[in-house]
Amino acid sequence: MIKRVDAATIRPLRRAILRPTRPPEASIYRQDDDEMTVHLAAYDDATGELVGCVTVFPEPVDDEPRAWRLRGMAVAADLRGTGVGAALLAAAIEAVQSAGAPLLWCEAREAAEGFYEKHGFVGSGELFDVPVAGPHRHMRLNRSAPGSLLGLGSRRSSYSNGTRRDRDRDGLG
Ligand SMILES: CC(C)(COP(=O)(O)OP(=O)(O)OC[C@H]1O[C@@H](n2cnc3c(N)ncnc32)[C@H](O)[C@@H]1OP(=O)(O)O)[C@@H](O)C(=O)NCCC(=O)NCCS
Repeated sequence: MIKRVDAATIRPLRRAILRPTRPPEASIYRQDDDEMTVHLAAYDDATGELVGCVTVFPEPVDDEPRAWRLRGMAVAADLRGTGVGAALLAAAIEAVQSAGAPLLWCEAREAAEGFYEKHGFVGSGELFDVPVAGPHRHMRLNRSAPGSLLGLGSRRSSYSNGTRRDRDRDGLG
């Protein structure tokens, strides 16, 4: 089951999977408590345990001020390969679509690139290194992929965030 939750609910899992050797503050994103930010949690239907999380929020890229970013995608190790990640990603894309955003992007860990590619993301540019987290690549959801954000550019956005901000590259994934 996928549920919308607050940041505090998913932070321990986010930290355990993505930043286990860093202090808890390293798992706080500056957009975590923004009104538009959507945190999604996956719960094991049998045990009710939190087993996965992802976060999406408005963050401009150079060529698209209304873009949204996906961060903090994580699935408990013992449940990987069972569809939890795919369900979270689909729900995240749906949330971004509902917000009327024309573009969804992420900085993907090299090891997870195949997961995003499978779901319509396309990588661009060189791999870049993130201390502790390793190599990452910029990826964007392909507008012509099935289930993509095709056509949403013409819809009125439900948020306005035209200011360019420097990409936050100190803690990705
Ligand atoms: C990446 C991650 C979120 C994927 O979640 P998951 O629950 O294992 O993914 P799913 O079981 O839903 O897999 C969906 C599909 O993607 C594929 N897939 C999953 N991880 C993959 C990977 N790393 N490379 C290539 N394909 C992958 C699966 O084989 C499956 O394909 P199928 O539909 O043909 O069966 C999970 O492995 C994870 O939490 N990894 C550690 C943290 C991490 O790297 N997060 C990403 C940060 S950018």
